[in-house]
Amino acid sequence: MSATTAPQADAAPPLDPALLAAVESALTAFLNAQTLPENLRAACLHAVLAGGKRLRPMLVLESAMAAGGRVEDAMPAAVAIEFVHAFSLVHDDLPALDNDSMRRGKPTCHVAFGEAMAILAGDCLLSLAPLSAARCPFNGSAIGHELMDATTRMIAGQVYDTLQGFPEGLSEQAKLELVHHNKTGALLECSCRMGALAAGADAETLARLTSFGRAIGLMFQVVDDLIDATQTAEHAGKATGKDAEAGKLTYPVVHGIEGSRREVERLRLQAVDALAPLGSRGERLTKLVEFLARRTK
Ligand code: IPE
Ligand code: IPE
Ligand code: MG
Ligand code: MG
Ligand code: MG
Repeated sequence: MSATTAPQADAAPPLDPALLAAVESALTAFLNAQTLPENLRAACLHAVLAGGKRLRPMLVLESAMAAGGRVEDAMPAAVAIEFVHAFSLVHDDLPALDNDSMRRGKPTCHVAFGEAMAILAGDCLLSLAPLSAARCPFNGSAIGHELMDATTRMIAGQVYDTLQGFPEGLSEQAKLELVHHNKTGALLECSCRMGALAAGADAETLARLTSFGRAIGLMFQVVDDLIDATQTAEHAGKATGKDAEAGKLTYPVVHGIEGSRREVERLRLQAVDALAPLGSRGERLTKLVEFLARRTK
């Protein structure tokens, strides 16, 4: 499938600029406070701070607020999930996995710093993540557990995506969902759950935010598959048109472009429905899901 759709301008993401700035400075401060060789610090800073939408940390903070909590109580979890995400991208781009040389419109970590450093920078971000999560004042240990559980699921998803190993007897559709729920859905669902836990949410609110996170997690990767199939690399800031060529199991390969767009719409409605009982507390997350369903990069 070739990248043919003309780039279109996305509406600005409905993310609070002050909150985004707070996330950037918390990420920077945490990395700068570590005792690390300077070349490793530089690779970690590149992996984390050279672009990125900051969707996962913003989901942590917005979920915490939707659950009635405070931004400062959830910020260590927001930093932690972005470290895991950055680790996943650095390793995903390596020659042994997707072999990509551009990420967020810049050279990938292994292109900028060499393969050995990229492997080690990814390892380092993975090991720093639970150290940050443990700083959440409420439910720090449960949050750390959620994070590592989701990270294991993400890694399992990367294995299904790259090396197979599926349980026997699964249909193509079941395999597709297993790959996407794990490789991408796990961290997004975890972001919402960690935000709720950091806010000390009640069981009903935690369940709502979990259902919301599960729906947007799958939806996010279906949209990513559509971006790979329909957008240019220049627009997306990363290589496109590669999934089908690499024989990846994606929504456009199995369902076509229109079928994938219908799936995005189904999951968008599922996510919005999950938030409905939260009333006005769910409004900002509802706006975010509208953006995520339509994003083109
Ligand atoms: C890219 O995630 C990897 C996927 C799970 C599809 P994002 O699209 O959130 O990447 P950044 O952080 O904004 O670059
Ligand atoms: C990303 O899947 C999943 C993880 C990084 C865990 P992709 O391989 O489709 O992500 P991009 O397209 O390289 O961002
Ligand atoms: Mg990949
Ligand atoms: Mg990739
Ligand atoms: Mg992709």
